[in-house]
Amino acid sequence: MNFDPSIYARRRARLLEKMQRGIAIIPTAPEVARNADTHYGYRHDSNFYYLSGFTEPEAVVVLIAGDAPQSILFCRDKDMEREIWDGYRVGPDAAPERFGFDAAYPIAQLDEKLAELIGNQPALFYPLGGDATWDGRILKLRGEVQAKVRSGICAPDEIHDVRALLNEMRLFKDAHELDIMRRAAAISTAAHRRAMQFTRPDQFEYQVEAELLHEFCRHGARHPAYTSIVAGGANACVLHYVDNNAQLRDADLLLIDAGCELGGYASDITRTFPVNGKFSAAQKDVYEIVLAAQTAAIAAAQPNRKWDEPHNAALRVLTQGFIDLKLCHGSVDEVLEKESYKKFYMHRTGHWLGMDVHDVGDYKIAGNWRPLQPGMVLTVEPGCYIRPAADVPLYLWNIGIRIEDDVVITEHGNEMLTDAAPKTVADIEELMRKDQR
Ligand code: GLY
Ligand code: MN
Ligand code: MN
Repeated sequence: MNFDPSIYARRRARLLEKMQRGIAIIPTAPEVARNADTHYGYRHDSNFYYLSGFTEPEAVVVLIAGDAPQSILFCRDKDMEREIWDGYRVGPDAAPERFGFDAAYPIAQLDEKLAELIGNQPALFYPLGGDATWDGRILKLRGEVQAKVRSGICAPDEIHDVRALLNEMRLFKDAHELDIMRRAAAISTAAHRRAMQFTRPDQFEYQVEAELLHEFCRHGARHPAYTSIVAGGANACVLHYVDNNAQLRDADLLLIDAGCELGGYASDITRTFPVNGKFSAAQKDVYEIVLAAQTAAIAAAQPNRKWDEPHNAALRVLTQGFIDLKLCHGSVDEVLEKESYKKFYMHRTGHWLGMDVHDVGDYKIAGNWRPLQPGMVLTVEPGCYIRPAADVPLYLWNIGIRIEDDVVITEHGNEMLTDAAPKTVADIEELMRKDQR
């Protein structure tokens, strides 16, 4: 898709309106050394990217609100020697037109220019507390401006966390963002289908992981949105299992929690399926409970329903299931009251999804769960994790199941982004049938 700078310029204009007055300073992420002179793959800061569409390291967005709003980019200078080694740089001459800024300056001039720009501004907005180095740098700058008080220059009196404004903007996805998220979801569902078709007993978890990464990358999603969880058998009961180095056993389930990042947006899908392509009776019993819980939660993911309604809907179905399986004892209300379900379901049913896999945005407003509204994107991911224990029926030991989809709240209901990854017992077994592979 062609880069459209007006999308980012409109977001900057909205932030400037929300600020009303003052200056905002939003740096991108630092490069992080992996070892010696080798770095981890670079990932921009999400807030910075949201406002700029700019993916180079060493860059800062500066916005000045007021009667004559201004948006400025600081970025790396052109440098033929560095570009031979590390690749192309846009540079401050080309950046204003390419990225729709009023002006751009070399990053090396940041401190000097900021000292001028923050003078006499009433308020300073930046990601306060987000990074100790930046905190120190910004406060030092402010102190230097303050020292000029006798020459009639004032430093900003107020300091605000700009994320309070940005998080709320990012929570509501615009058409451009939803389009990218649909494509990210489509790639990830293809990867889950590929994994189901590939998986066989005796393979190693990392071999299945390789299939996921292959499918992501060949569609242009160069990185997963988070480290893929490929967890066979008992490993599925470790919620953040990422070792992915065990051999898959014939009679086990395989839980895969994996999603690609595309164009800076995450997808986040979990599917659980039998290594040999056929659910056992016990696996199926537990699976159907988790699937029914997910169906109930998705039905509750509607505009004007509260954030916790999908979770509560899933929890009631899971709890009844745990009682039926003799994992929990008493009535549904008693088990919920005593929270004895937490032994088998210890996480919540979802989170916001966007540029970050656990995306920004408040879940409560003034102490109350917020209503779901069109444009919000969330995951719905109930699960059941049965660890060996004396009071747990033996035939259920080490069954770990999670089913996770990505859901957009729409005007009249919801849109499922990740339906193309099979999740009924029949659909999974059909895709995994030997003659289908
Ligand atoms: N993959 C992380 C999560 O499901 O929250
Ligand atoms: Mn998730
Ligand atoms: Mn997940």
